[in-house]
Amino acid sequence: MAFQLSSVVPWGRTMAEYRSMFLLTDEDKNKKIAGFGDGPASFNHEANAAGWHITSFDPIYGFTKEQLAQRIEEVLGIVMQQMAENMENYVWTQITSLDELEAVRMGAMREFLFDYELGNQQGRYICHELPEKLPYPDASFDIGLSSHFLLLYTALGLGFYIAAISEMLRVCKEVRIFPLCDLDSNASQLTSDVIGHFSTEYEVQIRQTGYEFQKNANKLLVIRRK
Ligand SMILES: C[S@@+](CC[C@H](N)C(=O)[O-])C[C@H]1O[C@@H](n2cnc3c(N)ncnc32)[C@H](O)[C@@H]1O
Repeated sequence: MAFQLSSVVPWGRTMAEYRSMFLLTDEDKNKKIAGFGDGPASFNHEANAAGWHITSFDPIYGFTKEQLAQRIEEVLGIVMQQMAENMENYVWTQITSLDELEAVRMGAMREFLFDYELGNQQGRYICHELPEKLPYPDASFDIGLSSHFLLLYTALGLGFYIAAISEMLRVCKEVRIFPLCDLDSNASQLTSDVIGHFSTEYEVQIRQTGYEFQKNANKLLVIRRK
């Protein structure tokens, strides 16, 4: 079935958040980085403007700027209402209020929309749905990232995760996934199963990050070719 924009809740994070979640350092600036499920994050625009080399992949990049802008407007009120009802599940130290959260997320998504058409022309936003095969040779990227997509939605199931991460590991020398809990902040059996699966052939590490907005969502999974 074709990918439906109506099934997506666009919500975009910033470069500062990506750096903190994925423990990216100034040395990573010269590496080739792929972001999977980057959606309307401003990471691609901010990082490329600062001289980094980021290519983002997401099925929503098959839609126009106007369609994406409309979908962002449609869901904003619903997401903010859910956040207001579940405030106790979040850590309000970096982002200190609902108003600030809305300003940060909308700022990131407006920046993404501003950059979207140029980024498309430059091949920085590529329409792609995991686990489909990517049009790249093996080891094309140094690092592959997944922020708030893989492992968060347990309903996608183990088969989907293994296929998606295997394809990421084919085109990337290393894959980093954040966070390692489900939407209710629980460590899932699925994450343990994914770790067990890849541990036999790859070097697998769990690293603590300084980033924690959703409570207990503060760990990063790193899977690297041995
Ligand atoms: C919660 S958003 C996260 C956006 C961004 N990574 C961030 O952290 O700000 C999840 C993203 O995953 C994308 N997505 C959904 N299914 C996907 C798939 N099969 N392959 C790649 N991305 C997918 C959605 O379109 C959406 O943009």
